[in-house]
Amino acid sequence: MQLKKEAREGVRHSQLAGKVIGMIFEKPSTRTRVSFESAMYGLGGQVIYLSGRDTQLARNEPLKDMARVMSRYVDAIVVRTFGQEVVEELGRYSTVPVINALTDLFHPCQILSDIMTVEELKGDITKLKVAWVGDGNNMANSWIQAASRMGFELKIACPEGYDPDPEILTAAIKESEKPITLLRDPVEAVRDVDIINCDVWASMGQEHEQDERIGVFQPYQVNVALVAAAAPGATVLHCLPAHRGEEITDEVLEGEQCCAFDQAENKMHIHKAILEKHILAQG
Ligand code: CP
Ligand code: NVA
Repeated sequence: MQLKKEAREGVRHSQLAGKVIGMIFEKPSTRTRVSFESAMYGLGGQVIYLSGRDTQLARNEPLKDMARVMSRYVDAIVVRTFGQEVVEELGRYSTVPVINALTDLFHPCQILSDIMTVEELKGDITKLKVAWVGDGNNMANSWIQAASRMGFELKIACPEGYDPDPEILTAAIKESEKPITLLRDPVEAVRDVDIINCDVWASMGQEHEQDERIGVFQPYQVNVALVAAAAPGATVLHCLPAHRGEEITDEVLEGEQCCAFDQAENKMHIHKAILEKHILAQG
């Protein structure tokens, strides 16, 4: 929040002058890519962006070799990929920080900017009730971990067969101070909540399931009626990109209770904080 305030005041930063990050993106991205690049430039650093097909990973160079080579050139590696094991393997062999910019399993940096947005609007998230409505995907898994680590109440409504990762959910329920519950009924999930969260019904890599999912997920659409079932003035979150008319209606996305574009802006501020913390920690 301090970095955001200073950016608004026109303060120029140079904490990361002379530092370079390598960004390896094997899936498309608008917000995460541009906000990480903008964050790094905003702190005086530089960025090397590599799409999946630009690297020798596309020709099966082992991840452990990639990690060790990249570590000799850059001060941190930001990765967007399919398997969580890719990020973990890079992390095992890299001598610089490896930052997860989305895998099939998690989207942790997004949740940090979402929580920042919630706290700007409504204060301490541990005093709020949060609902997740829709697919038990990477975003849902990261919200579950955040609820357990930070201690806020989370109600999740997913259709049967589309639950969050069961190991992540079970561990989180066990460790959390506040209730984390998995429900089937979206109306029950949003009852009394301060925050309603949603995301696309078919994530990147699941495009072939799109038609089938539209049928299954229809009752989970975040529309005016569902928002009315939450606490008065509840805030709607969407990490974007959105499919209007599917997981969220145009009316809700463009309505004043939705803060999707603040979430998008905050990605840049939170990425500055993430980069500063991890790169400077190395000395
Ligand atoms: N929210 C988000 O991660 O968007 P991008 O896929 O555009 O990076
Ligand atoms: N669940 C979505 C998030 C996009 C930011 C996906 O993985 O495609």
